[in-house]
Amino acid sequence: MTKYVINGANELNGEIEISGAKNAAVAIIPAALMVDGVCRIENLPDISDVKTLLNILKEMGARIKSVNKRTIDIDCSRVGTSHATFDMMRRIRASYYLIGALLSRFGRADVAMPGGCNFGGVRPIDQHIKGFTAMGANVHVRNGIVTAVTDEALSGTTIYLDVVSVGATINLMLGATLAKGMTVIENAAREPHIVDLANFLNSMGADVRGAGTSEIKVRGVRRLGGGFYSIIPDQIEAGTYMAAVAATGGRVIIKDIIPKHLDCISVKLREMGVTVVDLGDAIMVERKGPLTRTHVKTMPYPGFPTDMQPQISTVLCLADGTSIVTDSVWEDRFKYVDELAKMGSSIRVDGRTALIEGIPYFTGAPIKATDLRAGAALVIAGLAAKGRTVIENVHYIERGYEKMISKLNSLGADIKVAHYGREDSIFRRRIG
Ligand code: EPU
Repeated sequence: MTKYVINGANELNGEIEISGAKNAAVAIIPAALMVDGVCRIENLPDISDVKTLLNILKEMGARIKSVNKRTIDIDCSRVGTSHATFDMMRRIRASYYLIGALLSRFGRADVAMPGGCNFGGVRPIDQHIKGFTAMGANVHVRNGIVTAVTDEALSGTTIYLDVVSVGATINLMLGATLAKGMTVIENAAREPHIVDLANFLNSMGADVRGAGTSEIKVRGVRRLGGGFYSIIPDQIEAGTYMAAVAATGGRVIIKDIIPKHLDCISVKLREMGVTVVDLGDAIMVERKGPLTRTHVKTMPYPGFPTDMQPQISTVLCLADGTSIVTDSVWEDRFKYVDELAKMGSSIRVDGRTALIEGIPYFTGAPIKATDLRAGAALVIAGLAAKGRTVIENVHYIERGYEKMISKLNSLGADIKVAHYGREDSIFRRRIG
């Protein structure tokens, strides 16, 4: 068990590289289960959610070879089971993608209900179930286990999603890839990682069209063969560092990104008085003067991403005046507000909306991450704060950010990683 010790109030300056997208990687790895042959996947982020998924596949009989730090070869030709350890599946949200991949390949899936960050109550999968049922599967959920069975291959049909769901869109794309006939997913999500999954599947021989629009058409094919694929850069990782620079001040070039994916974030930061310059495959973020208040409402892509809501709300705490942030995607994504209050913030939450009164500065305090993006937001608060901030529960952060501490320290942050149950002064290490 680890915690981060941040000595704050240092400006961030320099250059950093962005890793492969977590939410693309966690869709593409299960998709590899449907490929008959070796797929080489490049630009994989080194994060715990990816490790867990790879372990699930290994346990099912996949052969996984590491080619270099960011590249692996996956060969699932010998996978002969639709079953993996439920305990491992429960650790991550994306385990639900195994339903689509296994149903497509074996006509059966037994998958533990997904874990991941809890934004209030059980995160529903009714749209996934509705889609698989329409395609001819029998789906039951008992004691937290989803069992989906189909006598023959899944059959293509038209599915209208009642809510724009990233997970249901991806899962149904997976199910449709080896199904009989054409599947049309209407009111589909349009996130960059959905396009990335479609590109991966097509490069292995699938026929997926329209990804990135609200109507995706998948014509089922008999088999997928092996190939190479490189995962897109992580939109949210890049956005998180943009927010960090906005909070601390300084000038940072964020490299290896697709600036278009960041438009929704860049626009808000510019409204707040931050300079954001598109450099083609990099972006320059600079903040010198005071921050201006603004209002943010999260929406499915291309709207402002819910996965950046805690980070932008944290920056808005330091803006002049009152800002309003509404999360229209998740019901209860403001749990981190109690932690920010320990650092002096003034935020009032009413349902899905937060009213943020600007304060001159955060004050360092002992706090706890409540989920992945909330954890990232608390790091941002700690970086901007006067004094020392100690963050517990950092395993949440490590689920989705590759080498966050060394990246930030390379920009001038002062963050140490300390271990629970030992004397900090002896066991603290500074990662440079
Ligand atoms: N929803 C339903 N029924 C469903 C599915 C979703 O009502 O069957 C609702 C949810 O309750 C929510 C909304 O639809 O209110 C959107 O949920 P969605 O299915 O899009 O979320 P998800 O697929 O479970 C992914 C990301 C999340 C990200 C959301 C929204 C992955 C593994 N997770 O979750 O990422 O917040 O899309 O963009 O891709 C994160 O990376 O920190 C993270 C939580």
